[in-house]
Formats: sequence, C-alpha cells, structure tokens
Amino acid sequence: MMDVDDQPGRQLASKWLKTKALLEHPDIAGHIPPSKLFGSSRLRRMLDRYGTVVVKPVRGAGGNGVIKIARENGAYSYAYRSQRQIFSHFSDLLDAVNRVRKGKAYLIQQGIDLAQIRGRPIDYRVKYVKSGGQWKFRSMVGRVARRGYFVTNLCRGGSLLSAAEGLRQSLSPDVVEAKKQEMRELTRTATSLLERRFPGVSRLGYDYGIDRNGQIWILEVNTRPQ
Ligand SMILES: Nc1ncnc2c1ncn2[C@@H]1O[C@H](COP(=O)(O)OP(=O)(O)O)[C@@H](O)[C@H]1O
Ligand SMILES: [Mg+2]
Repeated sequence: MMDVDDQPGRQLASKWLKTKALLEHPDIAGHIPPSKLFGSSRLRRMLDRYGTVVVKPVRGAGGNGVIKIARENGAYSYAYRSQRQIFSHFSDLLDAVNRVRKGKAYLIQQGIDLAQIRGRPIDYRVKYVKSGGQWKFRSMVGRVARRGYFVTNLCRGGSLLSAAEGLRQSLSPDVVEAKKQEMRELTRTATSLLERRFPGVSRLGYDYGIDRNGQIWILEVNTRPQ
C-alpha cells in the first residue's frame, strides 16, 4: 500500500499562478518580490525601478534558465550560470535574454540582495507536507550557491547546511531562532492560502530568501519538492 507521504498531491507548475495567489494575501504580499510576466518594456521599467531583477521561466526547476540582471552606471550586467556580461545597450541585453528564453513564458522579479556566506548567496528550503490530514514541517535547510553562481540550486552545485548554521554565518547568531520562527509562520499562512486556492496540494517546498537586512522573501513555492 502506498504511504500517505508518497502521494504526490496536486501539482502546480506555473510560478505565475502561485505568485499571483500569494500576492492577494495582505500578510504575505509584502514577502513576495514584485513580479510581472516577462515583456521587454516591463523589463526596462523594472530595472529602472529596482536596479536588479531576476528573470526566470514560468515553468522551471533546478535553477534552469534563471538570469540575473542589474543596472550599473548606465550599463546592464547580465549573469547566467557562471557567465557574466556587461551590455551598454538595452537591445543587446534583450537579445542575450531572448537567446536563453527561446520564446518561453518568463517572469521578471525584483532581485533580492540575498545575505551571503563568504561572497556566496544563501537561501532556505522549507518542506511542509500534509500527512494524515495534518500539515507538518519536514525540513528546513540552507543552500549556498556554488562560487561564481547566484542560484543556490543543488543541481547547479549549491551546497547544503543547516538553517541555523546558514543564518548564523550569513546574518548573526542572534537572529537564528527568530528567522526560523518567521519562516515557519509564513509557511503556515501561505499554505492555508494556497490550499484554499488550489485544493489538493499536499507537498510544498518553499524557497525563502533573506536579504542583508534580514527581510524574508518567498522566492517560489514548489509543489513537487525533492
Ligand atoms: N528574486 C530573486 N532574487 C534573488 N535571487 C533569486 C530570485 N529568484 C530566484 N533566485 C535565485 O535563483 C534560484 C532559483 O530560482 P527559483 O525561483 O527557486 O526557481 P527554480 O524553480 O529554478 O528553483 C533561487 O533558489 C535563488 O537562489
Ligand atoms: Mg527553487
């Protein structure tokens, strides 16, 4: 017999649908980086507004196709995998993005200035699973990007450490318990919202970024967490 924990539960591939649902809740919206569907004039506007943006596939996983772009001294810096380029003209930047995007639907999100450990960005994965009718925390871990990368995904060379160790090293030992607690609280609130909107979800993997000021951001919610 299949254990309840083995049931996949409802899956939602679209980061856009999940993000839009989360933006509707006043307690959650402030923790979602402003996000829009990709378009060239939106990209330009969001770069002007936020300075740094991340563009990523609406249906993506494992850090695939994720690009970070920043406006710097009138030029545009572009980071994809371990590649770094500077473009003086927006049209050249756009060509580079479109070569990666290949016509697929993409999101543009405000870039979060993630706290780092020795120059490597860190984020957190919180796994929350419904089992026997009850939601339970399964794990909370930190993931540090491989040197030279900005994505923390393990399949892109990111490395795991405990959330406590990650918080301690990237922010301060004083904030460990408070930030873990805040991530749990956000997970509960966001999950009740998602479950109402998408009945049947039962396995969620939250990617939390914490910026250098200690502000917590939901970068994405996975319905098929590893
Ligand atoms: N808005 C953002 N600001 C900064 N880094 C981000 C942002 N969005 C994603 N990232 C980085 O890229 C990684 C992959 O993005 P994510 O949205 O989780 O997509 P995927 O489904 O590919 O894992 C994140 O774990 C994080 O390291
Ligand atoms: Mg992710």
